[in-house]
Amino acid sequence: MTLRRFFVGGNWKMNGSRESLGDLMKTLNSSGLDQNTEVVCGAPSLYLDFARSSLDPRIGVAAQNCYKVAKGAFTGEISPAMIQDCGVDWVILGHSERRHVFGESDELIGQKVAHALESELSVVACIGETLEEREAGTTEEVVYSQTQVIADNVKDWGKVVLAYEPVWAIGTGKTASPEQAQEVHEKLRAWLRANVADDVADSVRIIYGGSVTAANCRELASQDDVDGFLVGGASLKPEFVDIINARA
Ligand code: PGA
Repeated sequence: MTLRRFFVGGNWKMNGSRESLGDLMKTLNSSGLDQNTEVVCGAPSLYLDFARSSLDPRIGVAAQNCYKVAKGAFTGEISPAMIQDCGVDWVILGHSERRHVFGESDELIGQKVAHALESELSVVACIGETLEEREAGTTEEVVYSQTQVIADNVKDWGKVVLAYEPVWAIGTGKTASPEQAQEVHEKLRAWLRANVADDVADSVRIIYGGSVTAANCRELASQDDVDGFLVGGASLKPEFVDIINARA
């Protein structure tokens, strides 16, 4: 029997406008969302304030990135302190687009995780292998080493959700099968047990991301070690409600 609360994050990425996101948030506010699911919407930084003031307080808001220090001469960056100042409690870090489009290293992601947690933000920390890495048989090696860097920077695992997002499944319409997701999630939990602590392995939510839709969410959600989702494309559509309710 798992005590891990189901977690569904929406990652709006660089999409939407005040009008379209406003409509989406109205839909979320007025829909019957499973009270057993923790819901967090990842808004573009410019819209964090807007998202926090528009969404029902029961729905969390996340920034999609932040920098590793509180303030200073870092043109274009935002800090955890600013995110909190908007009433926002979460940040997504280490997303594959940050790693691969913007060249963020494991080391930088680790520093961001440490600073965000010190600033009392909660963190959705993303990991995942590329297609080449999967085909070369190095999936475990890759996700373990990414998780190690995150683990080195976490003191309080109560504020961390681990998102397994195979890069080949993100935005491609190619979802990991429920068995493929379960296999990696189970191994990650075993890794946490061996390298961090039993209670952390038992309590940390390991969520899956990569082309999750209303059509495939229920089967994925039925896997023992899949504790929720990080949803990109489908989080911008009314079907996000069905994904939130995948276990209802
Ligand atoms: P997708 O994105 O659902 O559009 O594949 C997932 C993500 O990038 O978090």
